[in-house]
Amino acid sequence: MTTPDADDHAPLLSIIIPTFNEAANIAPLVDAVGAALGTIAWEMIVVDDDSPDHTFDVVAAVARTHPHVRCIRRVGRRGLASAVIEGALAANGDVVAVMDADFQHDETRLPLMYRAMIDQKADLVVATRYGSGGGVGDWDPTRAAISDVATRMGRILIGDATTDPMSGFFMVRRAVLASSVYDLSLQGYKILLDIISSSPRRLRIAEVPYTFRGRREGQSKIGPMVFAEFLFLLIEKLSRGLIPPRFVLFCIVGGLGLGVHLVILNGLGAIGFSFLAAQASAIGGAMLFNYVLNNEFTYRDKRLTGINAVFGAFAFAIVCSIGALANVGVAELAIQQTDNWSIAGIAGAIMGAVFNFGAASSLIWGR
Ligand code: GDD
Ligand code: MN
Repeated sequence: MTTPDADDHAPLLSIIIPTFNEAANIAPLVDAVGAALGTIAWEMIVVDDDSPDHTFDVVAAVARTHPHVRCIRRVGRRGLASAVIEGALAANGDVVAVMDADFQHDETRLPLMYRAMIDQKADLVVATRYGSGGGVGDWDPTRAAISDVATRMGRILIGDATTDPMSGFFMVRRAVLASSVYDLSLQGYKILLDIISSSPRRLRIAEVPYTFRGRREGQSKIGPMVFAEFLFLLIEKLSRGLIPPRFVLFCIVGGLGLGVHLVILNGLGAIGFSFLAAQASAIGGAMLFNYVLNNEFTYRDKRLTGINAVFGAFAFAIVCSIGALANVGVAELAIQQTDNWSIAGIAGAIMGAVFNFGAASSLIWGR
């Protein structure tokens, strides 16, 4: 089979398919996309994160009879957004389409999206479930509600640029992607939101409605972490990169650590410890708790193990002690200025958190 090239002037369409365990879907998808596109010249780049079900082998087999299909197999990395960008950067086409492998995105819309791109001279064409003519199929009320909340939160970031900011099905000019690629957050699933909010100029956006279908084979990879990553993306973009997502995680861990502190303090008090002894134990316990959680989650990509993890714990205790001094120092300054205990307390806490985060990021999890 060869790529149809009926119109030599029309730009090549590169279809990027991120996959994780989609072995059963990929061959039928290639056929369905080919049938839908007819005479439009296209190539497909599957970006597979070393799937345990060997999706990459299936793509390689398909590629033997479909030379315009290829696979990028990423080893040691995970993530939908970064997979999509990696595929787009390897594309030959001037127009890039992004769609899921599981048939939830209606491939018969691709020609309409492509036409809208060209006829309306759009930068971006979003396949929308929420525009007129679109739909979400047979979602249960919980999923519909979650999607609704996420869509509203997306609007905070990009206004009404599109009716479906959470869509994973869209077409974009490769030049538009290239112009903002350094500013992308690449957190989690929300690549469209990322692209729109990172663009240095207002994009011309067209929409094509479609109805979200049920997944054909396999399972969704969406979990709680996907929602957390979405929150990080919002925070990072809303603060214009000022508040790194890692800092948010660090502060959440710190907040939980305060809870641990209070539990230990009150618990030891109840069994007869003096305040000083209970408070000292609570500080130690909370520090250890914070250290373990930060090592597991906040700095999961730089996790310390073995003897390094033990040294790290001591270093963390030292950093936190200095942070506590900074906290008290700033609070003392603030109380002289404002005479308000709450404001002074908050100022001290912010100082302590920022100090701890900066020192921990560079000194403990620095590599
Ligand atoms: N390379 C790679 N790496 N691909 C991934 C990864 C990953 O870590 N995680 C998921 N994928 C692939 C899947 O194999 C699938 O092709 C596509 O990304 C979407 O993943 P699903 O797990 O099927 O997501 P979903 O159906 O729950 O979510 C979809 O709908 C949402 C809207 O409700 C996605 O399109 C989202 O982008 C969209 O927001
Ligand atoms: Mn899906």
